[in-house]
Formats: sequence, C-alpha cells, structure tokens
Amino acid sequence: MRLGRIAAVLAVGIAMAGSTPAGAHPRADDDSLRAAARGSGVRIGTAVDMSALAADTPYREGVAREFDTVTPENVMKWEAVEPQPGVYDWAAADRLVDFARQNGQLVRGHTLVWHSQNPAWLTEATYTPAQLRTILRNHIFAEMGHFKGRIWAWDVANEVFNEDGTLRDTIWLRALGPGYIADAFRWAHQADPKALLFLNDYNNEGINAKSDAYFALVKQLRAQGVPVHGYGMQGHLAVHYGFPDTVLENVRRFDKLGLKTAFTEVDVRMQLPTDSAKVQAQAEGFGSLLRACLLVKHCVSYTVWGFTDKYSWVPGVFEGEGSATPADENFQVKPAWNTLRDTFLLVRR
Ligand code: XIL
Repeated sequence: MRLGRIAAVLAVGIAMAGSTPAGAHPRADDDSLRAAARGSGVRIGTAVDMSALAADTPYREGVAREFDTVTPENVMKWEAVEPQPGVYDWAAADRLVDFARQNGQLVRGHTLVWHSQNPAWLTEATYTPAQLRTILRNHIFAEMGHFKGRIWAWDVANEVFNEDGTLRDTIWLRALGPGYIADAFRWAHQADPKALLFLNDYNNEGINAKSDAYFALVKQLRAQGVPVHGYGMQGHLAVHYGFPDTVLENVRRFDKLGLKTAFTEVDVRMQLPTDSAKVQAQAEGFGSLLRACLLVKHCVSYTVWGFTDKYSWVPGVFEGEGSATPADENFQVKPAWNTLRDTFLLVRR
C-alpha cells in the first residue's frame, strides 16, 4: 500500500462510518493510522522534519493525514530557538505549531532541559552556577511562554539518567546539583500551567536500572509536590539487540502511580541490508510497544521518530543501520505500518 492512495478511499469510508453498531468501537473511517487510533484513547504521532515539511508534498500530506500529534524533531531544541544569548528564533517551531492547528493535531514540545543540542554559547567556562540557574529558568519561561496554551505536552527533562541509574553527568547536574530536575518542572508548570510535563529517555521501556531510577525519581518528585505528569519512553529499538520483554510491566507500574505514559520516539532500526526476517521482527518491535501502551489506562500517545526512511536520523548516526521507520524512502508502507493499524483496531481498552 502506498500512503498516497488513502485519500481515494476516504469518501467511501465516511459513508460507512454511520453504520457502526452501538457499543462497538467506531470503525476507522479511512485507512489512516489516525483513523485507526480514533477512540482508542491513544494518540498517534510523528516527529516532524521541518525542511521536509516545507519541500516535500507527499511528506507533508502524510503528516497531515496519518497523525494526530506532532513533535518537532529539532526546531524546539535550545540551539535552534536561542542561537545567541537572548536572540530567539521561533520561526520554524511556529510553523509547526500552525501546521498542527490547521490539521487538528496536538503538539508535543521537545525538549527543554537536555545535555545535547544546546547552543555553543552555553558553557560552564562562561557562566557561574548562579548564572546558569538563571539562564535555565529564563529558557524555560521564554520557550514555554512563547508557546503557552499551544503545546499539549512538554518533554521537560530529557535523558537525565545513565544506564546504571545514576544521574547523567551534565552541565546542569554539575552546576546546579540534582535539584535541577525538580526546579525545571516547577518553572515549567508556572510558565504554562495547562501543559502536561514529561520526563523522557531511551532504554527505559523495560524494567532495568534506568527505569527503576525513574520510578524512584517520580515517587520522590511527587512526594515533594513537584508537578510531573508523564513518563516518556523514546522507544529507539534495534532488531539486532532484541526487544525488552518487560515493557508492559514497566508501563503498568508508572500507570499505577496515576502518571501518564507515552512512547515518544519509536523507531526500530536494523543492520543493512534488510531482509524479510528483519522486516518482520521490526513489525513486532513497533507492535509490542503499541500493545503495551493500549493495555494500560493512562498511556496517552505513541509517536514514531519519523514515518518514512527518507528522513530518518538513523543512517546518519548508526553506521550500517537504517530502515528504521514504518515506511520506506518512497512512502511504501512496511509490515510495521500495518501492524500499528491492526493493533489500534484490535487491541481496545
Ligand atoms: C535527533 C534528531 O532526530 C536528529 O535529526 C538530530 O541530529 C539529533 O537528534 N533522542 C532524542 C531526540 O530525544 O531529540 C533525538 O533526535 C534522537 C534521540
């Protein structure tokens, strides 16, 4: 199936939608992921590459048609929005927020506090710890203030733990100490009280030292009254490493705390060249995370980190690997795409 053909079946689908029996889940009124997700309580999202959105019509149409949340892949990161101290550039991020509004989509803001993709001017050599604290606070107020009321959920703190569950050694930990995380969430809540505030990381999908550290942190933050609302799992999986088998158990323990959960950056890469076994395994990887999401109460969204290999970050970062998204460079869907649709349609909560 090529993504582009979906518009043609739309009219037929709408005609059928009225005949859904009472009590049954509504039939998807077209072939899109978005339609399949409707009524499930889980939103389907994608990361968006803003250059591609401007230049590539099939890409733009795919984002609009298939998804109901969008995450800026890069344009809300600190280096993008404040290239020089006090000099802000919201243009690209504004374009995404406008696009989302036009297409009835919600926006996941990504990301406020991170060790990566910070502006070059932001260094410990230049600023004292007290100044860095003010800079971080100002950044959160400036960015969340700019988008106030227009961002559904923010990845407030990204990748704060190491694999062994100790806090990652970053400019923020060194300068401000471990309290920077609580501070960031408090500031974020003041800046936009309606936004859902998430922690977010990778390799924290199953039960392991890292997700244990998050579980402890969330309990501690909530005991202190810190406004943390969500636990984000990026979901960057790889066929050759196998998939974590305790994802449901992990998501469930956060869910039981009353915390919202989300899969925020799902892709499933493989060593190239592809073959049918890898492609099938990839579908299982995508499907298993979505199933876990659908099987708990408070999992609110499932976002893929790009929906076509044409713009995936994987080949540029993982040597010899690729084919990580559910559709190829020509927007031809893979088994993973159908698994996502079918999982939405079959696994209901
Ligand atoms: C990646 C983008 O996809 C790339 O385009 C960029 O060069 C580097 O960052 N975890 C995250 C994302 O939280 O922001 C990263 O995105 C992928 C890993």
